Amino acid sequence: MKVVVMMIVMDFCLRGSLSGRAFQTLSHLKPHSSDTAQTSAVQDLLRRLIGNRADDFVVTVDSSLASSDGLDTYQLSSVAGGKVLVVGSSGVAAATGCYSYLKSYCGCHISWSGVQLRVPSPLPIVPSPITVTTPNRFRYYQNVCTSSYSFVWWDWARWEKEIDWMALNGINMPLAFTGQEVIWQKVYLSLGLTQKEVNEFFTGPAFLAWGRMGNIHSWGGPLSSNWMNKQYSLQLKILKRMRSLGMITVLPAFAGHIPSSLLRVFPKANVTRLGGWINFNCTYSCSFVLDPEDPLFQRIGGLFMNRLIQEFGTDHVYNADTFNEMTPTSSDPSYLSAVSNAIFKSMVNVDPGAIWMLQGWLFVNNPTFWRPVQIKALLHGTPIGRIIVLDLFAETIPVYQYTESFYGQPFIWCMLHNFGGNHGLFGKVESINKGPFDALLFTNSTMIGTGLTPEGIEQNDMIYELMNEIGWRSMPLNLPEWISDYSDRRYGQKHPYARAAWQLLLGSVYNCTQNWKDHNHSPLVRRPSLKMNTGFCYNKINLYAAWQLFHNAASSLANSSTFLYDLVDVTREAMQLLVTEYYQEIKTAYINEDLERVMTAGGLMVFDLLPELDNLLSSQSQFLLGRWLESAQKTASTKDEAILYGMNARNQITLWGPTGNILDYANKQLGGLIKDYYKERWSLFLWYLIESLNTEVPFQQSKFDEAVFTVEKGFTYNGKTYSSTPTGDTIAIAKNIFIKYFPKKQ
Ligand SMILES: *[C@@H]1O[C@H](CO)[C@@H](O)[C@H](O)[C@H]1NC(C)=O
Ligand SMILES: *[C@@H]1O[C@H](CO)[C@@H](O)[C@H](O)[C@H]1NC(C)=O
Ligand SMILES: *[C@@H]1O[C@H](CO)[C@@H](O)[C@H](O)[C@H]1NC(C)=O
Ligand SMILES: *[C@@H]1O[C@H](CO)[C@@H](O)[C@H](O)[C@H]1NC(C)=O
Ligand SMILES: *[C@@H]1O[C@H](CO)[C@@H](O)[C@H](O)[C@H]1NC(C)=O
Repeated sequence: MKVVVMMIVMDFCLRGSLSGRAFQTLSHLKPHSSDTAQTSAVQDLLRRLIGNRADDFVVTVDSSLASSDGLDTYQLSSVAGGKVLVVGSSGVAAATGCYSYLKSYCGCHISWSGVQLRVPSPLPIVPSPITVTTPNRFRYYQNVCTSSYSFVWWDWARWEKEIDWMALNGINMPLAFTGQEVIWQKVYLSLGLTQKEVNEFFTGPAFLAWGRMGNIHSWGGPLSSNWMNKQYSLQLKILKRMRSLGMITVLPAFAGHIPSSLLRVFPKANVTRLGGWINFNCTYSCSFVLDPEDPLFQRIGGLFMNRLIQEFGTDHVYNADTFNEMTPTSSDPSYLSAVSNAIFKSMVNVDPGAIWMLQGWLFVNNPTFWRPVQIKALLHGTPIGRIIVLDLFAETIPVYQYTESFYGQPFIWCMLHNFGGNHGLFGKVESINKGPFDALLFTNSTMIGTGLTPEGIEQNDMIYELMNEIGWRSMPLNLPEWISDYSDRRYGQKHPYARAAWQLLLGSVYNCTQNWKDHNHSPLVRRPSLKMNTGFCYNKINLYAAWQLFHNAASSLANSSTFLYDLVDVTREAMQLLVTEYYQEIKTAYINEDLERVMTAGGLMVFDLLPELDNLLSSQSQFLLGRWLESAQKTASTKDEAILYGMNARNQITLWGPTGNILDYANKQLGGLIKDYYKERWSLFLWYLIESLNTEVPFQQSKFDEAVFTVEKGFTYNGKTYSSTPTGDTIAIAKNIFIKYFPKKQ
């Protein structure tokens, strides 16, 4: 058995190195900062993280430590004076080594929801030196949508924390999309657009991701010069920090979408107008795509690239997605090849070393259009090795498997995991723990890395820590052992209840397998109707049992901030299930014309369960609507801007568009939002059902939709402020909810 395992390991290493070597075209993608500069960047990071205890570490970056095919490596050892020596082949490798030591030897934990950083003194000894080499050249991070769902209102302090998190977790290839509108604006103005035309084109801050992809324009805009200036200086800091840590940043490029006003200046431009995106009509959608063979395409692409590199420098990787969720006008392979060739040409004309990064989402989103022949045509429009494809949703629909490994183009195996930044415990641990290793062993595999591509972050910490570790492993890990260790580190003690709860979560909410059930479809966060999706992908008995264990552990883990976060999160998940159960009861009672039961179940849900949920969420800062709104306000410099950003922030998480175009897609479970949005909606629904039973006129969804839209829109413009500081005692609130609502019999 052992021999077999060893051979598998060797096989992984061999294949890993083969694919690493196969792409000479990518050999120039490496850190541009000197070893010395990277060394001091990691030393600074460690000091931000653990203060003076950083003195107990000797950290150095030595690029010659990388494997012969350029794979990142770190070494850990104990040296004189009780210090720990961490050597990394890059800043990222050294930071990964630091976090690996903090995890394995000190039982520490770093996550979006909090840290557990009690570092023992003196530092635990590393008995014999350890060397770890990742099989993955690149560990990628970010979805183009994360800019809007999560980063939109961030200041430098929050960005700095995130970049530290990236380095500690081994990420060396992040997207760097901040501030690009500054460059676009300069390009459009130089082509003859007026400032007014530019203002009318850009979307508001919370919708930039989709403006950039050509899905929509104008909605939520305009962008102020204050916004432009802030984002621009933020981007300079972000790039500087990322590069100092040895990361390879990915910048945007021209994909062909243009403002309609450009047709005023260039009336003869050969453009096609795409249809409306999702439920948007042409008021805010239907973008114009410039024909790639029109000389204007190279002109705009060139102007943009030149300006971009002049302002931001480059690490030679550029993202462009022409057909994200939009169908090309022709499926003719020669047309598709010409498109990709033109896009690529506009990059290499300016940067001869350009590598095009393409999100593979289009293939997943529209498999009817993107048949193998179309995929191959698009991918072969550029030389082999000059496109990096992100296999964006590989934990669910791995595209490499039916495209002969992207027909020879290098790809990165990515876990998408989250849509719209929804809350909800969810994950596919088995797929994550297997998929990347299978992909490396696939016939003629062109896999060059692993990645994280969540649309929104700051949820399900566990699944991201797991995926980040997988990026540095040569074989799957033992999940039940790993999760116990995770529980110990997260709370700073080996707590039997906490461990048992995590085992239950691992085998239930985190072991989902169904393909398209990723999204949080809970009736709680959806517009009520009599036809709601009540399915979920796990056995609810396990979730309730985990809830009970968290409840039982509460008094002894009350001093851990990450435990309090999880107590809220698990209780929240259980309450979401309870809402589904109440909904089913209300619906059955309504069908049976049992007015009393409709009123009892409905009353409990609307007047007690939802207000309690709101109280619970309001007791932890990460679950506050007020925090999201406050960060939007802080970005504004005038009253008008503050009003516009408030609208952006509220609309994105509710109506998503002027008329509820993508209603509740980016739903959140936040204190304030439950009370004033979801609860109000349920309350109106209940009223409609009761009215229907009283008057014996059947419930009419369309009438309800019309009425509830007023409630939804009312929330977007209610102008109310919500506290950005938590209130109430989490433990007491959670306990009260448990006693009232824990199902007596299941
Ligand atoms: C515009 O582009 C389309 C698609 O590439 C092409 O078929 C057509 O000939 C072009 N028209 C002109 C006037 O160049
Ligand atoms: C398009 O949507 C906007 C609101 O987004 C609405 O005002 C307008 O009437 C719609 N136009 C058409 C043609 O439906
Ligand atoms: C793998 O690559 C080899 C060498 O290029 C080729 O002969 C073989 O057909 C490929 N296999 C598959 C399944 O594509
Ligand atoms: C996940 O579920 C599958 C069966 O559906 C099972 O074989 C596997 O052991 C489960 N994994 C965990 C970690 O519970
Ligand atoms: C929390 O309390 C436990 C014992 O009850 C203790 O071992 C642990 O160090 C405390 N943690 C913190 C962060 O104070």
